[in-house]
Amino acid sequence: MTTLGIECTAHTFGIGIIKDNKIIANEFDMYKPEKGGIVPADAAQHHRSVAQQVLENALQKANISIKDIDQIALSTGPGLPPCLVAGMEFAKSLSKPIIPVNHCIAHIEIGKQTLKFKDPLIVYSSGANTQIIAQQGNRYAIFGECIDIGIGNAIDKFARSIGLPMPGGPKIEQLALLGKKYIDLPYTVKGMDLVFSGLVTAASKKAKTEKLEDMAYSFQETIFAMLTEVTERALAHTKKTEVLLTGGVAKNRRLQTMLSEMAKLHNAQFGVPQDEYLGDNGAMISLVGSLSKNPQKDIDINPNWRTDQVELTW
Ligand code: ATP
Ligand code: FE2
Repeated sequence: MTTLGIECTAHTFGIGIIKDNKIIANEFDMYKPEKGGIVPADAAQHHRSVAQQVLENALQKANISIKDIDQIALSTGPGLPPCLVAGMEFAKSLSKPIIPVNHCIAHIEIGKQTLKFKDPLIVYSSGANTQIIAQQGNRYAIFGECIDIGIGNAIDKFARSIGLPMPGGPKIEQLALLGKKYIDLPYTVKGMDLVFSGLVTAASKKAKTEKLEDMAYSFQETIFAMLTEVTERALAHTKKTEVLLTGGVAKNRRLQTMLSEMAKLHNAQFGVPQDEYLGDNGAMISLVGSLSKNPQKDIDINPNWRTDQVELTW
């Protein structure tokens, strides 16, 4: 069985191919706005213009032709509606059975499968989402999450305020390595949930007078400590023995270190997939498509589809 996965929910148009449980291609093209944040219509236009080329690259990498593809897995949500529509139109144009895939579940499953984790506590930390998750029965339950903006979006917003373009995460990480002084910033954890806007506003204001290296360092220490605190509480509560960090922000080495040190204190194994599978990618979509095996006739986008609404059939 060969499944071709299409990722299209936001900035990245990606195509992955999985054949008999083995990923044989993972190609993508990312939209990067010159100034400001993502303009959904522009991102959708980007996806339309690169789709055919990304498909050709993926098929070439896998050394197969479109005739060899049995089914398409498509990320139908959550995401930006214009981008989801662009991806769906492209998927339909390929005239194959289509399996709708939840983007968040894909970030989780690619981590679980590549690390061979069985039942981890999951820290899904990406652009629009920040969730602490564990499986309960045949669903993923969310133990804590961001209630205003996602952690990656918060980092990107702060980065833009100090003149660093999208994606700001990697640039803030580099700058933070040079920081020496911790500058006090708002730390807002409400129960098990996280609030980031106040931190972004305060850091952007203080950046006008403080050294940018110190600001980047202090911003990272604060925002990652908030995430580590709620993860630790979820770990103590669930008593899981594995901690899986996934999503685009999981590429951050400082966040990896904080969570792995915390996991160690609780005798839990810590794991993070390789960078290629952390940001948005088609391989993770093809993987969930190959697991779920439920092609549907009436495919539609689902922009607000939540992690805990998906029934785990595998
Ligand atoms: P979601 O999965 O919530 O829909 P998304 O799909 O937009 O969000 P991903 O591609 O999973 O997001 O992650 C993108 C985010 O990861 C961006 O906000 C980017 O700045 C952030 N990011 C990438 N590398 C790093 C890094 N080294 N440190 C911190 N953040 C990073
Ligand atoms: Fe994502």
